[in-house]
Amino acid sequence: MKFFIDTANLNDIEQAYDMGILDGVTTNPSLMAKENIVGEENIIAHYKKICDIVEDKVSAEVLSTDLEGMIKEGEMLAAISPKIVVKIPMIKDGLKAIKHFAKKGIRTNCTLIFSAGQALLAAKAGATYVSPFVGRLDDISQDGMVLIEEIKTIFDQYPEHLNTEILAASVRHSMHLLNCAKLGADVATCPLKVFEALLNHPLTDKGLAQFIKDAESMTAVVEA
Ligand code: E4P
Repeated sequence: MKFFIDTANLNDIEQAYDMGILDGVTTNPSLMAKENIVGEENIIAHYKKICDIVEDKVSAEVLSTDLEGMIKEGEMLAAISPKIVVKIPMIKDGLKAIKHFAKKGIRTNCTLIFSAGQALLAAKAGATYVSPFVGRLDDISQDGMVLIEEIKTIFDQYPEHLNTEILAASVRHSMHLLNCAKLGADVATCPLKVFEALLNHPLTDKGLAQFIKDAESMTAVVEA
């Protein structure tokens, strides 16, 4: 399973990268706005900085919702770096834009996926990734994991025809991530705190404290 970090915060991206577990980054307009990135020049400069940190796969979302605008913006974003994956919303013009980019060999991430039908359409259009939002489904009392399972079942029927990867998004906590992994999602994108939550276990801390104590007594014996 690949791990992407879901943020536009450079410090968090660096921290996840330094953990040695990071395969990519996803951003969205809300995450970019949170970092106070305003205007085309600053948007481009910020994506350049993100691309300088990670090796590949930086999802950059278009702000337009019409075909012409999405194509223009997507091409501008893709020109920043070959690491950029153009993120396109799940709307009718979005499907056309995905098809356009697929023909040009530009990778896309179809975002705001809330049903298996939407995922299938995006895959048919040639999306590199589909992003089902598990947390936002949970927020309205629908089980986000059921959606991951449905998409996985459908995509697995057509291994030769559908090359689209399932990028589980809106992953809010470690159980979300582990359940997505159990179901075979190709990627999970989540905030830094979710990776950190995977790291910690009280028995690890207790065991290490004991090892350190015993190591000290061993050193004392050697020195005596
Ligand atoms: C994914 O690409 C989205 O940016 C993100 O996962 C949305 O997460 P949220 O529902 O926690 O805002």
